[in-house]
Amino acid sequence: MKKVLVLYYSQSGQLKKTVDSFTAPLKVNDEVSVDYQEIVPLEAYPYPWPFYTFFDAFPEAVYLDGCPVEELDLQDDYDLIILGYTSWFLSPSIPVTGFLKSEQAKKLFKDKPVVTLIACRDMWVMAQEKMKEMLKAVDAKLIDNVVLTDQGRSLFTFVTTPRWLFTGRKDAFWFFPPAGVLEDEIKNTSRFGERLKTALMNDEEKQAKPLLRNMGAVSVDGKLIGTEKIATRSFMIWGKLIKKAGAPGSFSRKIVISIYVLFLLTLILTVVPLNMLIRKLIYPFRKEKIDQNVAYYEQPSGR
Ligand SMILES: Cc1cc2nc3c(=O)[nH]c(=O)nc-3n(C[C@H](O)[C@H](O)[C@H](O)COP(=O)(O)O)c2cc1C
Repeated sequence: MKKVLVLYYSQSGQLKKTVDSFTAPLKVNDEVSVDYQEIVPLEAYPYPWPFYTFFDAFPEAVYLDGCPVEELDLQDDYDLIILGYTSWFLSPSIPVTGFLKSEQAKKLFKDKPVVTLIACRDMWVMAQEKMKEMLKAVDAKLIDNVVLTDQGRSLFTFVTTPRWLFTGRKDAFWFFPPAGVLEDEIKNTSRFGERLKTALMNDEEKQAKPLLRNMGAVSVDGKLIGTEKIATRSFMIWGKLIKKAGAPGSFSRKIVISIYVLFLLTLILTVVPLNMLIRKLIYPFRKEKIDQNVAYYEQPSGR
């Protein structure tokens, strides 16, 4: 009997739904037991998010501070761990980071093959780089990564995703598509569960090699890599400033957050479109380098 542990933290239930669809084929097999464990922060994060609380979470997310989480009731030894997480400010969500930094995680992950499963707006590349470091720190072996991103073009999700997070509303309006990942894409993740089931039956997970290659598990948008890198640098600077301003929830911190939000809005309305245009223009000259980057960030489960 193979034992699979499924860890996740989901606010609206979208990632949970993805995790369920992904792992469904594993459950119908008597040879595999699946243990679902939700990561639960000691102090819950709100959903939908009040405006300031949302931005207040930003410094702790980018600096990977994590938060205290409930201890999980785990079994002894798992053959495979599936870790479902969402991206918060280009970093793994705070509760998931909190769990990865816990004492329990150190014992749990040691030498275990791990498959990460991400469902987010469309910026996860830097979050996964941080995830790689955290998994390395607990001696886990990352063998695969599957990523789902929100439907519609970046320009639309700039509106639909925040609207969803601040109001809880996902419906289509005006010319905007619904927020979140396409339902069909969520359903189709069961193909990865099928593949993992076969792999587990053949002991393939023991080889510490990718099992989900050439299945369309991940697709990196080369034009977003540069934006993610620049944004991460800016997040580190502003994150430090906001932290220095005061403790989470404090009035002094709210002032710096207000300035930051104004800065961010100006950036989104001016520098971001300009940056996108410049990147489009120089793309033919940088194609080789960008393609190399895409191939790198699509590891271990590319194409
Ligand atoms: C505080 C916060 C920050 C977020 N930052 C990002 C981000 O940087 N990149 C991204 O693609 N999605 C971002 N998202 C969207 C999430 O990754 C995810 O799609 C959404 O929260 C729904 O996940 P759920 O299953 O937990 O409800 C953010 C969400 C929250 C709550």
